[in-house]
Amino acid sequence: MTNLHESLQGILTKKELELLPRRFKRIGHVAIINLPDELLNRSQEIALKIMELTGAKTVALSEGGITGKFRVPRLRVIAGNPNTEVIHVENGCRFKMDVAKVMFSPGNVHERKRIADLVSPGEVVVDLFAGVGQFSIPIAVHAKPRRVHSIEMNQIAFGYLQENVRINKVGHIVRPIMGDCSAVAPKGVADRVIMGILHVTHRYLPLAMEVLKPEGGVIHYHETVPSPLRFKRPVERIFQAAGGREVEIINRRVVKRYSPGVDHVVVDAKIGGMK
Ligand SMILES: C[S@@+](CC[C@H](N)C(=O)[O-])C[C@H]1O[C@@H](n2cnc3c(N)ncnc32)[C@H](O)[C@@H]1O
Repeated sequence: MTNLHESLQGILTKKELELLPRRFKRIGHVAIINLPDELLNRSQEIALKIMELTGAKTVALSEGGITGKFRVPRLRVIAGNPNTEVIHVENGCRFKMDVAKVMFSPGNVHERKRIADLVSPGEVVVDLFAGVGQFSIPIAVHAKPRRVHSIEMNQIAFGYLQENVRINKVGHIVRPIMGDCSAVAPKGVADRVIMGILHVTHRYLPLAMEVLKPEGGVIHYHETVPSPLRFKRPVERIFQAAGGREVEIINRRVVKRYSPGVDHVVVDAKIGGMK
């Protein structure tokens, strides 16, 4: 983002430049920026410069992060085209969504690719919190699973999930299921379970265990965790939910810094068969 800083020199004061964020998100044609209060009265100059430098057609201000159980972002368009429905292209997949209505984290790009690379031909995958297909679509496009069951309970995200299955031509693999995964997840079917949600993930660990095939499989468990507890808490929770089934931690990584002192981590755990 040196360019943005450089190109705003002479427009913003030295103090304002110091407050200018180093980064912004880009999803499709929309650039999303977080500005401190002190810079809100300069948002137009900043937004116009972002459009000029990046070719973004829309600039939106992030107002308070992603909220609620549906993980809805709070955005306000401040410049350019007011349309926030995008087609975002990533890893050879196309994601259609309204970025003002559904959550999509550009910071998870490597995790989406990593998971797609792990899936073996013929696997059955259950994506418990599918969103617009962030994991399900790359898996279906790049791996050769037999079936991906993609569960989503937010009607708007579900509509885009269905649309993304169609535009990526993976309707023969991905089965979107509308509803609360606690009620609608198929049980005893999965070689792999994806738990791509934050804050409440541990509550669904017992469900994930039931969704796995009786002979076991792999779960990808996401959690936001204070940095000092980084892998300890998620690993303990997995062992607890496994209730005596064998657990092998096969990978663990920080997906991204979630907030100061808090990491978004993922733990891959191989769960043994039912006793
Ligand atoms: C944070 S988004 C993440 C989407 C995607 N898994 C990812 O990691 O990028 C979580 C999604 O899970 C959905 N969700 C939350 N609780 C759910 C539940 N109990 N059953 C099904 N979907 C749920 C929300 O509506 C939201 O679309």
